[in-house]
Amino acid sequence: MTDPYYTDDRVTLHHGDVLEVLAELPDASADAVVTDPPYGIGFMGHQWDQPGDFGPLSAAHGGSNVSYGGAPHPAMEAGRYDRSSLANQRFQQWCHAWALECLRILKPGGHLVSFGGSRTWHRLAAAVEDAGFEIRDSVAWLYGSGFPKSLNVSKAIDKRPGVIRHAEFAAHLAERRAAAGLSRADVSERVVGARTGACWNWEHHQFPEAKWWPALRDLLDMDDEKWGSVIAEAEREKVGTRTAGRLAVAPGQGADRRAVDLEITKHSTDAARKWQGWGTALKPGFEPIVVGRKPLAGTVAANVLEHGTGALNIDACRIGDASTRRRNTAELGYHGGNISDDYVTGSDSGRWPTNVVLEEGLAAELDEQTGELTSGANPTRRGSDKFRDAYGDFKGQEECTPARGAGSGGASRFFPVFRYEAKADAGERPRVNGVAHPTVKPLDLMRWLVRLVTPPGGTVLEPFAGSGTTVEAALLEGFHCIAIERETKYLPLIEARIARRRDPRRALELAGEDMGLLGLITDQDGDAA
Ligand SMILES: C[S@@+](CC[C@H](N)C(=O)[O-])C[C@H]1O[C@@H](n2cnc3c(N)ncnc32)[C@H](O)[C@@H]1O
Repeated sequence: MTDPYYTDDRVTLHHGDVLEVLAELPDASADAVVTDPPYGIGFMGHQWDQPGDFGPLSAAHGGSNVSYGGAPHPAMEAGRYDRSSLANQRFQQWCHAWALECLRILKPGGHLVSFGGSRTWHRLAAAVEDAGFEIRDSVAWLYGSGFPKSLNVSKAIDKRPGVIRHAEFAAHLAERRAAAGLSRADVSERVVGARTGACWNWEHHQFPEAKWWPALRDLLDMDDEKWGSVIAEAEREKVGTRTAGRLAVAPGQGADRRAVDLEITKHSTDAARKWQGWGTALKPGFEPIVVGRKPLAGTVAANVLEHGTGALNIDACRIGDASTRRRNTAELGYHGGNISDDYVTGSDSGRWPTNVVLEEGLAAELDEQTGELTSGANPTRRGSDKFRDAYGDFKGQEECTPARGAGSGGASRFFPVFRYEAKADAGERPRVNGVAHPTVKPLDLMRWLVRLVTPPGGTVLEPFAGSGTTVEAALLEGFHCIAIERETKYLPLIEARIARRRDPRRALELAGEDMGLLGLITDQDGDAA
C-alpha cells in the first residue's frame, strides 16, 4: 500500500488518482461514501473536470467527437469544454469504474451519496446503478443565487449582418492571427481579458463588439479602413446597464460573488427584434445528489445488526425541533366499525428529513413569499358538518383540539436549510498559500449528509476531497474518514481543515498570511474534534 499523504487516528488522506488509490483499499472497510466528484462539465476550464479527460473510449462505442448542435461548441474549440457524446460516455465509464471500487470497499448495505451536475447527473446515476448499487433516492439541493449562462439569441443575430461580409472578415482575422503566431484563446485573453471563446465567435459567426475592435485591430494589425465602419454599423444601441452577480453555477462554485455591470442593448435588425427575449439556458437553481445503497446481506434488520449499515439515521437529521407528535386512531372499517386503541406517531424533535434541501437565502425568499403559516389545527372549520363524520383525530370534534403541536412559520420550515457564505475569505472557503478551491460545498450540508448515512463511530470514504469539506464534516460528526485528492495544490487546504478540528496551532501555522483560514478558525463555533 502506498504511503498516505497524511494520517492520524481519525483521518487518512491519500494523494493520487482515485482509481489507483481505491484499488489499494481493502474490501468492506468503509461504512459510507459521501462525495462530490467532477461533474464532467469542464468547470471554469479546470482540467480535472473535462469529460473528455476521463479515459479512453473509441468511436467503436457508437459515439461521436462532435458536440450537440450543428456548429462545434466554441468552448470546446477553445479547449475548455468537451461536450461530444464520446466525451460524455467516457465520463460515464469513468464514474462506473470508481463506483465499482466504492461498492467493493463499502460494507453490505453501505450508502453512497454523490453530488452531480444538473446536465451530467444522468450519466453519474446510471453508472452508480450499473456498478451494482440500488438507487434509493435523489436529493435536490435548491439555491437562489445561480447566474444563467445563456446566449442572447437576438444579439447573436445582430452580430452577423451579411454572412458573406462576415466570412471575408473572418478570413482576414484568421490570416492576421496566424501571422502573429497566436491561438484563438491567446487573442481572446489579450483583447477581452480572459481565455474565452470570443475569438472563436469572431472567426465563425459574429463581428466583435465595437469596444473590442481597437485592441483587436492593434494586436493583429488589422485593416481599420475596411472593417472599422462595418463593425461600428453592426453595433447595437446601448439602452442601459444592469447589475448581475458573477456566481456561475451554484453557491460555492466559481469566482467570488461579485457584482458586474452588463450593457443592455437594443435590437438593430428585424430578425433580431423577432428573437428578442430568447436565450439558451435556464438559471441554475438546483444540484442533484444521488443516493445509492450497496445490496443488503439479508433483511435490513439482519444487515444493520451484523454490519451497522443499511439504514438512514432519521432522528439525527430531523428538521428543526418542532414537535410532530400526533395521536392517531386506527380505524378498521367504515363509520364506527372496529376501532382499536389510539397510537402515537411523529417526534418531539423535528420533522422527518426530506429529499429537498434549501440554501438559506432561498429559504428566506420562500418564507417572505408564503408569510406565516400554521399547521396542525384548523379552528374555524372544526365542528362543521364536514368534520362530524371525518375519521382520525378530527372525528366528531366540536371544538378544536389540535392533534399535534400547531407549528407555524414560513414554508421553508418543512425542509433542512443550510447556510453558505460564498466570500473567499469566509470560513467556508479556506485559503492556504493563496490557493482556495473553486467548488466548495457548504460544511453544514456535508455534516447532514454524513450523519444521515454513517453509523456512530463509522468510516466515511471521500474519493474526491477537494478542499476537504467532507473530511471536516466527518470529524465534526465523530466519524473516521479516508480521503483522496489528486491535485497537489489542494492538499494543504485539506490538511488545514483537519488541523482546525484537531490541532488549531498547526492550523495557524498553515494559514500564514491567509486570512481565509484565520477567519475559518474564529468563524466556526465547533470545538476541536
Ligand atoms: C468538485 S471537487 C470537490 C470539492 C469539495 N466538495 C469541497 O467542498 O472542497 C472535485 C475534486 O476531485 C478532484 N479530482 C478530479 N479528478 C480526480 C481523480 N482522477 N483522482 C482524484 N481526485 C480527482 C479534483 O482535483 C477536485 O478537487
